[in-house]
Amino acid sequence: MADSPKPRRILLGITGGIAAYKAAVLCRLLVKRGMDVQVVMTAAAQRFVAAATLQALSGKPVESDLWSDRTPNGMGHIDLSRDRDLIVVAPASADFLARLAGGRADDLLSTLCLARACPLAVAPAMNWQMWDNPATGRNVAQLRADGVQILGPDSGVQACGETGEGRMLEPEDILRQVESRLGPGPLAGRRVLLTAGPTFEAIDVVRGITNRSSGRMGYALAQAAREAGAEVTLVSGPVALAPPPGTLLVPVESAAQMLAAVEAHVARCHVFIGVAAVADYRPTQICKQKLKKSTQTLTLELEPTEDILATLSTRPGAPFCVGFAAESQDLERYAEEKRRRKQLPLLAANAAETAIGAQDNALILFDDAGRHPLPRGPKLEQARLLIAHMIPLLERWERSGAHTHQEPNLQ
Ligand code: C5P
Repeated sequence: MADSPKPRRILLGITGGIAAYKAAVLCRLLVKRGMDVQVVMTAAAQRFVAAATLQALSGKPVESDLWSDRTPNGMGHIDLSRDRDLIVVAPASADFLARLAGGRADDLLSTLCLARACPLAVAPAMNWQMWDNPATGRNVAQLRADGVQILGPDSGVQACGETGEGRMLEPEDILRQVESRLGPGPLAGRRVLLTAGPTFEAIDVVRGITNRSSGRMGYALAQAAREAGAEVTLVSGPVALAPPPGTLLVPVESAAQMLAAVEAHVARCHVFIGVAAVADYRPTQICKQKLKKSTQTLTLELEPTEDILATLSTRPGAPFCVGFAAESQDLERYAEEKRRRKQLPLLAANAAETAIGAQDNALILFDDAGRHPLPRGPKLEQARLLIAHMIPLLERWERSGAHTHQEPNLQ
């Protein structure tokens, strides 16, 4: 079993220049590509763009102060860059380049750069005369000699109205350079569709049948697929979770709505992962008013819902389909039987009582090679292991031509 893969981790440093507003776009692009982004801003950067914007886009608190340390060991000036694969400073002002070249450590970002154990790339942004100044030239030459990657700058019209070299590279260009350095992620170019959470089958205008699914496993898988570089659409029943940043959320209630949403998106997708705890039955009729209490026995008539996963997986030209099985007895036998019946290359089995609604899980993966138990752990770790296990199966399945269409229909 492969080790749990980690998302590509970036520290995005933002310094004080008008191009700081473009750093918000860069942050969004990095997150959308499934990267884990920690933003660190200088005091001057915060005069151009609010930390709250970057916090919302990166999904985590922005750090800026060397003296208000939130790390558990009080070593934020070192720790914040320790688990990063790359530091990108965009925009990098003339002053910041000078401080970097001089080995200064007089604020959090410069300290993190000096104490780093990962590569550093900077995207200079400044007025063309500042860029042309020999002092800046010396600093940039020193940084290149120190192994710092210099991204750009571009030339063109500047914020001051003058024209020349010194514009920051466009966020898309910086993203390309970051990806060419770190790799695009094993699921780059793939679109993954997931279902998650419970469904809610209405009985009357206020009541319904649902289950204890929290959506955590499906949301964790959406995050793990996004971290691996996939474009992710998450069709979710009612849950109290925020969708992972960079995923497209399609909220639904009933099994019928979930099927309709899946049908609307599946043609574009390479992979379908059915994690939702879809109701197996729904009331044959939904009462248009709130049902009145009485002393009589009330009998609900239920009809089966359509099996979303089986509908897709047994269809010609189906995407690569992954199923889940939650059972309270004879888990492994039912799981493998379900995998065969629904014609799934991969199925994850979990014990219904301990998995549904819980924080942790202990999945057993079933594929053509047999059973692969995962060590119990948080659902995000389980999800990353499942995605790591799935990738070679998907690649083999694509190479074998088991899918009847080579490229999904993009209409
Ligand atoms: O047969 P069972 O419901 O136990 O199968 C579970 C798997 O099938 C899960 O992957 C679940 O998301 C999917 N499923 C579905 N539509 C249903 C019932 C289950 O997609 N109506």
